[in-house]
Amino acid sequence: TGRELVVIPGDGIGREVVPAAVRVLHALCPETRVVEADAGWDCFQATGTSVPEATLDLVRQAGAALFGAVSSPSYPVKGYKSAILTLRRALGLYANVRPVRAAVDLQPPRAIDLVVVRENTEGLYVGRELRAGDQAVAERVITREASLRIGRIAARLALQHPSRKLTVVHKANVVPLSDGLFRDSVREAVNAVDENQVLQVDELLVDYAALKLVQQPEAFGVLVAPNLYGDILSDLAAHWCGGLGAAPSINLGDVHALAEPVHGSAPDIAGRGRANPAAAMLSLALLLRGHWGMREEADLLEDAVAFALRSVGGDAGTEVITTAVIEALGRV
Ligand code: NAI
Ligand code: MG
Repeated sequence: TGRELVVIPGDGIGREVVPAAVRVLHALCPETRVVEADAGWDCFQATGTSVPEATLDLVRQAGAALFGAVSSPSYPVKGYKSAILTLRRALGLYANVRPVRAAVDLQPPRAIDLVVVRENTEGLYVGRELRAGDQAVAERVITREASLRIGRIAARLALQHPSRKLTVVHKANVVPLSDGLFRDSVREAVNAVDENQVLQVDELLVDYAALKLVQQPEAFGVLVAPNLYGDILSDLAAHWCGGLGAAPSINLGDVHALAEPVHGSAPDIAGRGRANPAAAMLSLALLLRGHWGMREEADLLEDAVAFALRSVGGDAGTEVITTAVIEALGRV
């Protein structure tokens, strides 16, 4: 088969967890071709661009990518644009899907199985900021079109989810024009997809959604939220996966897919072999299942990661965990 995966290690621990995931992929699907491409902060410093045109071309040809993480400065840098934002925009990856299942070692065990669906292209992330003297203003854009398409994806995912529940997250009591448009458009899209009204649809204000994710995560099925709320809620929910080291995500559009661990480049532990590669491997599993339709292999990979984490623990280091996953693949 002609399956090809572009891997973009990026910066920091991206360069440790992506090679680990590639080793696992070779063990699981030896026929998949893997091509490496460059992006990120180091790439920007070396070449003047954080995402070279060649990287975009490779992903467009292959259709599927695994992205590690990149570093972004928290101050303005002339000519720099965030690599992951550029990739999402250039490849039309308008949905970020972040499934959260209870960690294997969670005590007592809990029946947490939820999905955060985050709008990926607009909101506060349009990056339109203006500074005038002592005042700074950031624009937050919500469009009907982007809200409808994220609503459609969320509805389809909720129909596949055992809970058949969908929660629309917003803050329309404070920003009624923008979040009101988001909520109404999502509900319109959901009604169109869920013709037979199978879904149980409700809505929550984002602040209360955060509290409920802490108090009662079992109550959720699929959550759909504008960009920033989805970003924050999914990091919060990642706690239940066992932390950022085990939290996977996938960016989806109509054509391409890019799998990506939720975590960043983790400069505090980079280069020391301490990064947990589970998030990158579980992201790969989402790609196998969601983009290539390889359900069996995806299940096998998820089971192997769970088995490995249970036996060596999430702090065992990149090499030990990777070896344990590859061994577990032969056993589960
Ligand atoms: P981070 O996710 O890189 O790290 C937060 C904390 O979690 C750190 O203590 C780190 O050591 C730990 N951690 C993260 N992933 C881990 C793993 N796989 N195994 C073990 N421990 C792990 O977030 P932070 O520190 O806020 O940002 C660092 C850099 O990453 C920044 O430059 C930021 O812009 C970038 N970033 C990039 C993202 C992306 O590429 N999609 C997402 C988030 C942050
Ligand atoms: Mg984040």
